[in-house]
Amino acid sequence: MTDPIRVAVTGAAGNIGYSLLFRIAAGECFGPDQPVILQMLEIPPAMGALEGVAMELDDCAFPLLKGLVLGDDPEVSFKDANQIFLVGSKPRGPGMERKDLIRENGPIFVGQGKAIEKVAASDVFVLTVGNPCNTNGWIAMNNAKGVPRERFTAMTRLDQNRAVAQLADKTGRDTTEVSDMIIWGNHSATQFPDSLNARIGSERVPDLIDAAWLRGEFLETIQQRGAAIIKARGQSSAASAACAAMDHVRDAWSGTGGRSVSMGVPSNGAYGVPDGIMFSFACRCSGKGAYEIVEGVEFDDFGADKFAKTLEELKSEAAVVQDLV
Ligand code: NAD
Ligand code: LMR
Repeated sequence: MTDPIRVAVTGAAGNIGYSLLFRIAAGECFGPDQPVILQMLEIPPAMGALEGVAMELDDCAFPLLKGLVLGDDPEVSFKDANQIFLVGSKPRGPGMERKDLIRENGPIFVGQGKAIEKVAASDVFVLTVGNPCNTNGWIAMNNAKGVPRERFTAMTRLDQNRAVAQLADKTGRDTTEVSDMIIWGNHSATQFPDSLNARIGSERVPDLIDAAWLRGEFLETIQQRGAAIIKARGQSSAASAACAAMDHVRDAWSGTGGRSVSMGVPSNGAYGVPDGIMFSFACRCSGKGAYEIVEGVEFDDFGADKFAKTLEELKSEAAVVQDLV
């Protein structure tokens, strides 16, 4: 049998962790032939709850689960890790924006970035989920300068999945028919879900749905979906976030076969985004964590304006935590 890979999950006793860990252990992320060792990080007050999660993982007798490591020290949890899900951090409550968490959550990613550089496997691939995820991922990346920066990514796949579902629902088509539905910029209320370049089957979305809906209700629904879930559930999205995290990492590890997906990645200067900013672009993944930013997507004036606004917000978030990098 293949050697196990080491998968670290931070915030493992939290809501997202409770969905994510079981799906990884079941083989839904790395495939039915890939054994895993789960390395779970929590803070000391949550270690009791984490032990309960570990008991439940044991009780599933997952054939692919070859070990559990529990701890409150990132240097233990990230040791030789091939994949790291940075989830652990505070979620926002009603009436807050994700960037309101920045001074509280940002410092978490300083120490974790340093630990990744020190102890993770040389092929480590990192997905940042904890909010504000683009800027937190950027903080971790900048505290791990010895790790190729392309190995650090942030999650906008949940926004993409939401947008795909809305377009499928609006047209009465299947979600599997929707492609090129890319989220640009920040995982925040300024994100730009670009439906004008999306397709359903072989047709362009703007040929199927009127522009007023795409530029109005659709855009706002995606930008505000996280807040709508918090309002309805009293807690932020968790199962759908875990699902998106698995989609992101599965695609990064297995490749997208030419499909474009949304990933927050450090800019290489594409589309005029300053070098290093953790910006969500259209990406094509070729496997083992390798990807390229898709060049040449064109925006109309509406799209260019949205693109500029979300970029401005990311720059201003970076300025607020400049002392952490
Ligand atoms: P939660 O409060 O249920 O769980 C968070 C867990 O993280 C807790 O168990 C807590 O003890 C732990 N934690 C806190 N600080 C830690 C640290 N320094 N090291 C390790 N663990 C730590 O929250 P949740 O619902 O699981 O959400 C986690 C984060 O993910 C939040 O910031 C939330 O806003 C974010 N999120 C992002 C997306 C996205 O699309 N990017 C989607 C949903 C949620
Ligand atoms: C989401 O999009 O559901 C998450 O980022 C949680 C939130 O704060 O909205």
